[in-house]
Amino acid sequence: MHCLRSLFGLGLVTLCLSGVMWGCVSGYQVGVGRADCTGPPVEIHFMGYANIKQVGRGLHLRQFARAFVVEDEPQASRLRFSRCGGTHTHGGPGGFLMHLLYDISILGFVPRPSRRSFRVATWLSIKRATDNMVDGKILTQLLVDLDNNLLGAFNWYAVHPTSMNNTNKLVTSDNMGYAAILLEKEYNTNKVPGKGKFVGAFCSSNLGDVSPNIMGPRCSISGNECDLLTSKCPQKEGECFASGPGRDMLRALRS
Ligand SMILES: *[C@@H]1O[C@H](CO)[C@@H](O)[C@H](O)[C@H]1NC(C)=O
Repeated sequence: MHCLRSLFGLGLVTLCLSGVMWGCVSGYQVGVGRADCTGPPVEIHFMGYANIKQVGRGLHLRQFARAFVVEDEPQASRLRFSRCGGTHTHGGPGGFLMHLLYDISILGFVPRPSRRSFRVATWLSIKRATDNMVDGKILTQLLVDLDNNLLGAFNWYAVHPTSMNNTNKLVTSDNMGYAAILLEKEYNTNKVPGKGKFVGAFCSSNLGDVSPNIMGPRCSISGNECDLLTSKCPQKEGECFASGPGRDMLRALRS
């Protein structure tokens, strides 16, 4: 089979990159990389819930850019293909987007350090991946070397990262970032999060409004179920919001 000359970068930031392209499954050079892209953990308004009261007060989970690079044998007419994708979180410092609408609830654009941390870490993760390329293969969603040693793994997971709700003030990569940290911990024995050779990523797919808050929408004061059609609560029964599983958002995240 004629393999497409391809290079794809798959990286992750809180907003990560992702990409796919393979014409055949072996004879590639593969590399994985990771870089810390955690923005300013305090003082900056969070992006995601557009809640003006959600201002950073510390750190819960670091955010990482992750890159998966695949290249087949270099050739003059090499076709390059790359794709970026974001896992996203609702618990990260905002102000990195160029569109006015997204910067209103942040109270302005924050070129440094918010935007810069993403830019530099995304570049660094791809650089680390391309600097450490080895002969390898793609096995479905795994990158392995020719001896089948696992280098990296990625998947697309359809759930919204909203285990941490809009009262959270600690910078967090939410459920998808936490899943990636746990996966990496499994293969990078005795390493702190963000260190170690294995890179694992949970990328966003068709998450739409797939909620992780499986205890369903309830009124904050009465605890009754919200109105099914309008998602509203009767007067004096409080706000309607979904939660769970577990007693609080940290337990929800871990479930
Ligand atoms: C968010 O979660 C906390 C528990 O961790 C809870 O006390 C609070 O009511 C929740 N708020 C919303 C709006 O979901």
